[in-house]
Amino acid sequence: MLLLFFLGAATSRCLHDETQKSVSLLRPPFSQIAPDSRSSYLILPSSFDPQPLRIQTYYIEEPISDRALDPEGDLMKGGLRALTAVREATQRIQGVLAVLPVQGPLLLSRDPTQYCRAVWGDPDTPNYHRCSLLNPGYKGESCLGVKIPDAHLRGYALWPEQGPPQLVQPDGPGVQNTDFLLYVRIAHTSKCHREPSVIAYAACCQLNSEDRPLAGTIVYCAQHLASPSLSHGDIVMATLHELLHALGFSGQLFKKWQTCPSGLRIRENCSTRQQVTKRDKWGQLLLTTPTVSHSLAKHLGVLGVSLGVPLEEEQGPLSSHWEARLLQGSIMTATFDGAQHTRLDPITLAAFQDSGWYQVNHSAAEELLWGKGSGLEFGLVTTCGTSSSDFFCTGSGMGCHYLHLDKGSCSSDPTLEGCRMYKPLANRSECWKKENGLPAGTENPHGEIYHSQSRCFLANLTSQLLPGNKTSHPSQIPNLKEAELTGYCYLHQCTQRGAYEVQVQGSPWVSCYPGKAIQIPGYHGLLYCPRGRLCQDNAVTSLPLNLSTQDLLLQLSLGLAGPPDHSLVKEQKEELAEAVLQALVNRGGIGRCYFHSPSITTSLVFTVYIWKSPGCQGPSVAMLYKALTLTLQEKPLQVYHGEASFTTEYIKSLATLDHNPSKTQLLLSVGLCLLLLILVGAIGTMAYQKRATLQVGPSAP
Ligand SMILES: *[C@@H]1O[C@H](CO)[C@@H](O)[C@H](O)[C@H]1NC(C)=O
Ligand SMILES: *[C@@H]1O[C@H](CO)[C@@H](O)[C@H](O)[C@H]1NC(C)=O
Ligand SMILES: *[C@@H]1O[C@H](CO)[C@@H](O)[C@H](O)[C@H]1NC(C)=O
Ligand SMILES: *[C@@H]1O[C@H](CO)[C@@H](O)[C@H](O)[C@H]1NC(C)=O
Repeated sequence: MLLLFFLGAATSRCLHDETQKSVSLLRPPFSQIAPDSRSSYLILPSSFDPQPLRIQTYYIEEPISDRALDPEGDLMKGGLRALTAVREATQRIQGVLAVLPVQGPLLLSRDPTQYCRAVWGDPDTPNYHRCSLLNPGYKGESCLGVKIPDAHLRGYALWPEQGPPQLVQPDGPGVQNTDFLLYVRIAHTSKCHREPSVIAYAACCQLNSEDRPLAGTIVYCAQHLASPSLSHGDIVMATLHELLHALGFSGQLFKKWQTCPSGLRIRENCSTRQQVTKRDKWGQLLLTTPTVSHSLAKHLGVLGVSLGVPLEEEQGPLSSHWEARLLQGSIMTATFDGAQHTRLDPITLAAFQDSGWYQVNHSAAEELLWGKGSGLEFGLVTTCGTSSSDFFCTGSGMGCHYLHLDKGSCSSDPTLEGCRMYKPLANRSECWKKENGLPAGTENPHGEIYHSQSRCFLANLTSQLLPGNKTSHPSQIPNLKEAELTGYCYLHQCTQRGAYEVQVQGSPWVSCYPGKAIQIPGYHGLLYCPRGRLCQDNAVTSLPLNLSTQDLLLQLSLGLAGPPDHSLVKEQKEELAEAVLQALVNRGGIGRCYFHSPSITTSLVFTVYIWKSPGCQGPSVAMLYKALTLTLQEKPLQVYHGEASFTTEYIKSLATLDHNPSKTQLLLSVGLCLLLLILVGAIGTMAYQKRATLQVGPSAP
């Protein structure tokens, strides 16, 4: 469940594992395959196509007796907020997860160990193992404190030693058009009291014959729903987090994940995955399934390396959350610090793909900035304190939270295991909230602007126009001599992908060069422009990130020859582009972190941008380019995809640099010339080698 370390109160622990452990997971008692197997002919093939997951919500009001204990009316007030959030969260999930739809009404199972006191024990009798004696105290089925209506449940019967059963309760009508039933409860439970920071918790209660979760309950702690400190967005995110636990992201369910060699559609030869989690040699628990591992490797910019994703171990050997040091900001970490800082990230979606129960719409993933492209060493307890990554900090100074929406102070929490990061301050740290700004008329020596388009910048700007100190030199102002860098709020606007301008109170817009410090007219001091953090939207398709003046950006195009009349649909294009890129990376023998936004056209021209993203280890782009062209001319790239084989025919390249005007212009042309020289050089070498091998015997002097 969701831990709320809200606003720095890092005292809570997570409840999901504990809660899920207390719930027994029911499966249908026997095979659900249609009793009359001939009727399965009648099912149209289209009914086996995955459809968006249909989640039906049932809100069970607390009994009147409990409502008497609710003098503030939290239950009433909270109900609407919770149900609105549930609706939004389930709609969101519909756009992300698809399943093979449940045919006919969804019916949940009863627990025979609850309704039945004894079964027939003689294996030679026809009703062996069927219920011979009812439990008179049977109160029906419940899911995490919610009583499941009989209408949602299968019936049950009492069996004589021989012959037909005596029906006690017939099957309910079930729930139409539903793949997952979500019971919602809003309460002041003892768990809520014991863990005051918990907003909500959830568990899954029923599985289908392939172990896919069919029903679960989410319990909201009523006092939080009534609290103004949680926004609607926060409650939606908290709901989404809980719902994802109940749908399969849970330490108790990992061992039930499926693998189907022929895909979700043709559910043949599916089996339970052999290995979902494992412990590495240092004792770290990892989730190791293929899509998840690939997705983390892609995120860290080390494609080709097989990585497990570390899980947080709050207590005991089970874990239902990602390790926060590595995947800060993911919806499935154990800490939640507001919807603004939380993403439904690609690695979490990859986990759902690997569960084998869902088809996942990966384009619904939100980019995770934390650790992006930071390499294998990122997020280790041993590296986070060494300044090797600017996602972490040391000491206890002030700066900016890594998303730059908030000012932050360098601090830690139990899930960071000694690593420190800039965490939003206890109050008024949001740059994007106008109301956090100084009241009009007050002195604003650092020129801060709070606005929805403001972001946090590391700076030590001080106005040159301090009262009584007009146009004074910094050295003449005693407290200005060495103004420390800290987080301040300034306006920003994106000019293109990865590029932006900033504005300080009273200043014009000034271009911010990512990774550089700039001066602002009218101010002493410097403002640092973060790299790879701002104006990063539309991750995959548009132009690549932050280029500072020394970054060479190269567009490499490879013409491919494929089988005649080969046509590609969109999905195949993406796959082929990925395959070509992988071949290119293998050939170059270098990190994937150089290659960005691969694409392929219908006429088989593959294009990729090459530049060195931050944290990327290896040769310069120019060197890499030289090596690549050489080897490609020597031996074309051959890629097999589907049934076809593709070969590179020609290479084209285009070098560009940052579009920043004036002083970078010169660098630009120098860069271009260099590149052309290298190109000519490379081709020259090639030609020379060719000739050399053709020559036979000593050449005439
Ligand atoms: C997949 O996700 C994208 C982005 O959220 C959305 O626009 C699209 O409609 C989704 N596709 C399906 C089939 O739900
Ligand atoms: C399932 O396994 C059987 C036996 O190994 C094999 O003949 C069959 O082709 C498999 N089916 C699919 C769809 O892979
Ligand atoms: C905000 O923070 C200041 C100190 O940083 C503190 O004095 C004040 O009480 C806090 N206000 C709230 C509402 O937490
Ligand atoms: C601002 O910070 C930079 C880097 O720390 C320092 O060199 C400079 O002197 C500072 N400027 C002022 C006006 O304090």
